[in-house]
Amino acid sequence: MAQSKIKRIGIVTGGGDCPGLNAVIRAVAKSAMGEYGLTVIGIEDGFEGFVEGRMHELDNKEVSGILSLGGTILGTSNKGDPFHYPEEGLNGKIEIVDESARVVRNYRRWALDALVAIGGDGTMHISNKLAEMGLNIVGVPKTIDNDLAATDLTFGYDSALFVATEAIDRLHTTASSHHRVMVIEVMGRYAGWIALGAGLAGGADIILIPEIPFKWDSIYKKVKERSLHGKRFSIVCVAEGAKPKDGDMVVKEMDEKRTDARRLGGIGEMIGDCITQETRLETRVTVLGHLVRGGSPTPFDRNLSTKFGCHACELIAQGKFGYMVALRGNRIEDVPIKDAITKQKLVPPFCQEILAARAVGTSFGDE
Ligand code: F6P
Repeated sequence: MAQSKIKRIGIVTGGGDCPGLNAVIRAVAKSAMGEYGLTVIGIEDGFEGFVEGRMHELDNKEVSGILSLGGTILGTSNKGDPFHYPEEGLNGKIEIVDESARVVRNYRRWALDALVAIGGDGTMHISNKLAEMGLNIVGVPKTIDNDLAATDLTFGYDSALFVATEAIDRLHTTASSHHRVMVIEVMGRYAGWIALGAGLAGGADIILIPEIPFKWDSIYKKVKERSLHGKRFSIVCVAEGAKPKDGDMVVKEMDEKRTDARRLGGIGEMIGDCITQETRLETRVTVLGHLVRGGSPTPFDRNLSTKFGCHACELIAQGKFGYMVALRGNRIEDVPIKDAITKQKLVPPFCQEILAARAVGTSFGDE
């Protein structure tokens, strides 16, 4: 690294926050400053702050003691895509414009030689385009949704599973005491990884995911059967993106400021209402929402984040740009950012988790 031209690097956290972001920031900053003698600039509030030129130099003090801290000390935003940037006109109307040139300008103004972009598919799409405009970028895959291709896991997913599984465990005891059907809706966007992972770990009786559209009758049959012949309660773990065979995902809100305007949510309530109406079984609905995104990362996520962050620095030291660090098996590797954005990683309907869940009697609402 002694002869390297890289002197100053930036770090940005883009999109929704998730546990483990601070662990990556810490790993990148400590390793960049300590191992490679680099200056590290923290970009504030994601790409929004990058467009606006809000950043500052990080020091050891700022990145110490944050390993176990949830969220991101840098701040983030899921409305700051520089290529789809919402700007308020004089008439108060929001206009979507391309502000990518401002990012490039700020990168140069702050004399950055490279950038570590920590984020999910949105951030990797942005990074890929910025790389084409000449920025030296290394990506680090983050998202509770675990829907990024080219890496076996994203950091944040394990922590989300931990919270969702604990919630199911807690619902189990009260469901059983009151002989109720408990519906729990979890995040995950268009992928069912969180619902599947937590549903399997928590022993849900029905798991509904976007990849396997459900039949209403199949849900009613399962909860009625259990109420008559099994335990007198049921747990239904539903992904926010789950949808019936003959219907669509439930959209809570459209927000044009986001690259993907759809904000999902509401399928849990709908399922709860229908179960009550059709089966007369007492039903309660819990929407976990952002609880799965907040709080401390699990030990697994802290370690994955630390390994990702250190590998990102190694790539920068090698001058290997346009790559994203990735978990392959139990090794940290790197893949072209392009490979991570060609398609979304959805749950394969015949994966081992689904087969195992079916084998222990879990319904996916499709029989
Ligand atoms: O991508 C992470 C995620 O938490 C999704 O699971 C969810 O659909 C979305 O972000 C929620 O976004 P927001 O924080 O803007 O409500």
